[in-house]
Amino acid sequence: MTKTKKPEELRSARWFAPDDLRSMGHRSRAMQMGWNADDWEGKPVIAVINTWSDLSPCHHHLRDRAEWVKRGILQAGGTPVEMPVHSFSEQFLKPTSMLYRNMGALEVEETLRSHPIDGVVLMGGCDKSTPALVMGAVSMGLPFIFMPAGAMLRGNYAGEKLGSGTDVWKYWDERRAGTINKEQWDGVQGGIARSYGTCMTMGTASTMMSIAEGFGLTLPGASSIPAPDAGHKRMAAACGRRAVDMVWEDLTPDKIVTWESTRNAVTVAMATGCSTNAIIHLIAMARRAGIPLTLEHLDEIGHTTPVLANIRPTGKEYLMEDFFYAGGLPALMKELGDKLDLGVTTVTGKTLGETIADAQNYNDDVIRPLSNPVYHEGSLAVLKGNLAPDGAVIKPAAMDPKFQTHKGPAIVADSYAELKKIINDEDYPMTPDHVMVLRNAGPQGGPGMPEWGMIPMPKALLKDGHRDMVRLSDARMSGTSYGACVLHVAPESYVGGPLALIETGDIIEMDIPNRTLNVVLSETELAERRARWQAPAPRYERGYGKMFSSHVEQADKGCDFDFLRTDFGGPVPEPEI
Ligand code: FES
Ligand code: MG
Repeated sequence: MTKTKKPEELRSARWFAPDDLRSMGHRSRAMQMGWNADDWEGKPVIAVINTWSDLSPCHHHLRDRAEWVKRGILQAGGTPVEMPVHSFSEQFLKPTSMLYRNMGALEVEETLRSHPIDGVVLMGGCDKSTPALVMGAVSMGLPFIFMPAGAMLRGNYAGEKLGSGTDVWKYWDERRAGTINKEQWDGVQGGIARSYGTCMTMGTASTMMSIAEGFGLTLPGASSIPAPDAGHKRMAAACGRRAVDMVWEDLTPDKIVTWESTRNAVTVAMATGCSTNAIIHLIAMARRAGIPLTLEHLDEIGHTTPVLANIRPTGKEYLMEDFFYAGGLPALMKELGDKLDLGVTTVTGKTLGETIADAQNYNDDVIRPLSNPVYHEGSLAVLKGNLAPDGAVIKPAAMDPKFQTHKGPAIVADSYAELKKIINDEDYPMTPDHVMVLRNAGPQGGPGMPEWGMIPMPKALLKDGHRDMVRLSDARMSGTSYGACVLHVAPESYVGGPLALIETGDIIEMDIPNRTLNVVLSETELAERRARWQAPAPRYERGYGKMFSSHVEQADKGCDFDFLRTDFGGPVPEPEI
């Protein structure tokens, strides 16, 4: 470790060191908690940011892990302080956890800014928690390390491996088609989530934790350790130790989150099979570091990066536990070779190349070499056209390949309630060529862009054995979802994007190889419909929702609040003490 910071330069020393009235107040109040001078003199104060709550099953072990992180901080000569923030419980938060990602990021940034903190360990993993924590910490700029919550154990029912989300959708389609009974469905319910930890498919949670490692923001391999593995506790303690050293080294996030590491993070995302949600979060995270990442960059990297992680839902067979046993993310990064910039600095203080030098791939069916990928290019594609001038996203790797090019008539639903009526109607007149459209489900319309984009297959098609069709919306979909679902249509319909103008029966044309998405309507017809279009009433007139809808940006910009982008206005001053 190269110490570049002197004890008197610690940020916390501004609170604790001066011989004045205010600092006496801080010291006396620290003593009220049982501290003494050994706790504040010349020691970095490390915030352990905890997203634990009794309603966050994926983070249920973080109250315990905080103790391991603190042990590491103490071992390295720091002073740990545990600070609770919003818990980002994907399953329980309504209307959608995405509504609260930016609020959480704001909370993290301001919690760090307003307290005597020198360095940070962020603990999270359930979907939005990773981007929220990283976005807030990047904006604040203190040295930080991300401690991934880790995935839960593989699911199990009747001797069959179950994957989070993915198998729920699958069995639900079977239940609606009448091929499994209530008892079997209940068995799936009890077997799908068997331990604490995040979803164990390569859904949004695992993708985002891998992306954090791809940025160089975690210890090597940390993102792949299953939550219940004893190695997870050891990793937690190592995060605590490392955070203390990072303060002394003044290893701030601007030295880690760069263009080069952002490209690495995107490459890793594509090679993992990547949840579609990752696109929005990657853009938002990069922009917090002042890096203007766009959908075009993502599509370009996607074109040249094959999917190597054979993990569901993109892969057919394996789950995160298998990925860990096969060598985890370091092994995958090693396979990516010179597709990554190995010269970037990570939280270890070493280069990425040094940190993965000894990584090994123990199972080349789980982590495929470049010569035998799961899918020949990155799992995501960005489409543009008169229906999505600012872009839309699809995951061709996880759909029936016959939809690569498609032309069919639209069936349009203006709300989820209307959609449900259509998909539950066995006699609804439709063919497998129809395109099921849901609108008013974007960042403002949803609100918060709920995960409604994997529109359930209509009963009218299910009964004839169909299991995929083209679906189109301005919503997101869960990272564990699959199917020919076009998502994130921007601008969204609620603010008058072209999606607002289409009608049932209009012909939709999608061409994934050429990256286009159009409605077959003349400019004149579209202009006439636009003139007739009436803006819907605002969703919120007060409260957080009002703030959200006044400031949220569209999906292609990462759905951040405009005023939270790090390049918005001048830097925020340090607090007066
Ligand atoms: Fe938390 Fe899936 S619900 S990661
Ligand atoms: Mg999810």
